[in-house]
Amino acid sequence: MTDAVMPRVTPGDKPLGASVEGLDLSRPLDDAQFRAVREALGRHGVLRFPGQTLSAANLHDFSAHFGTLEINVGGMFQEPGLPQVMILSNIVRDGKPVGIGDAGQDWHTDMSYSATVAFANVLYALEVPHRDGRPLGATRFADMAAAYDALPADVRARIDGRTATHDFEKFWEMMRRERNSPRPPLSDAQRQAKPPVSHPMVMVHPFSGRRTLYANPGYAMHIDGMPRDESDELLAMLFAHQVEERFIYTFEWTKGDVLMWDNLRVIHKAMADYRPDEPRLIKRCQVMADQILPRGTAGAALLVDA
Ligand code: OGA
Ligand code: MN
Repeated sequence: MTDAVMPRVTPGDKPLGASVEGLDLSRPLDDAQFRAVREALGRHGVLRFPGQTLSAANLHDFSAHFGTLEINVGGMFQEPGLPQVMILSNIVRDGKPVGIGDAGQDWHTDMSYSATVAFANVLYALEVPHRDGRPLGATRFADMAAAYDALPADVRARIDGRTATHDFEKFWEMMRRERNSPRPPLSDAQRQAKPPVSHPMVMVHPFSGRRTLYANPGYAMHIDGMPRDESDELLAMLFAHQVEERFIYTFEWTKGDVLMWDNLRVIHKAMADYRPDEPRLIKRCQVMADQILPRGTAGAALLVDA
């Protein structure tokens, strides 16, 4: 017998996204609740837990149920004493930014640049920008299972069994060069901490068994072992295909939302449509894929090729 409250999972009207109610995330999950959340994440790719009131430690502890938490190589804007919790914000207090102001503002997959890839990202909204009563700063998601399924057979044949090289510096430098980002150039130590890595371009999702396209415009540099012009042309085609409107789900934030997404299933992008005087404040934990992998293997182990 258990008296645990089981979450109510309500899918939205898109293939991605569901709302999960009946859980207070400031309390530890029991086994049945943990399994229910993981299953819902596998099924829906993006989960919203509305109406939460969490400390940074609560956010950390909830996220840590699902795998090891990453300490971001950027090394900035971490919760004091809790470096696994990072602060995303455009708020400036006493002349100092309280968080990273431009995190994720173009299509990417979290940590595809890492040898062990990311599983889930967990964000908690403390302030949501509004204008004329409407929320701004949405997060958009594109479904890489649907995008893979929709590829022509000849394109699938060209990427099945292939790997691509991913590089942390690609997104970082793009933000500095094209978006006027105040982020400083990466130091040699940061570059050495995250050297380019290769991952299969097609993976079989460990929960659903569905194939997903694992290549994203933020970090994927080139297809390994393919002539550069052919790789550039094929990646450009995939990057355009994967963000077609039919694959996209736009999440509009409400204060108190916790949002959790599956980086093996989606790519995502933060919408930069709000001004400096429209405050956004989010705390975040990045969950690595170590727990959902066979023990002792690196990230690539779950990215099954061919
Ligand atoms: C991230 C990210 C999206 C957002 O934290 O990795 O992409 O909407 N954030 O803040
Ligand atoms: Mn991100």
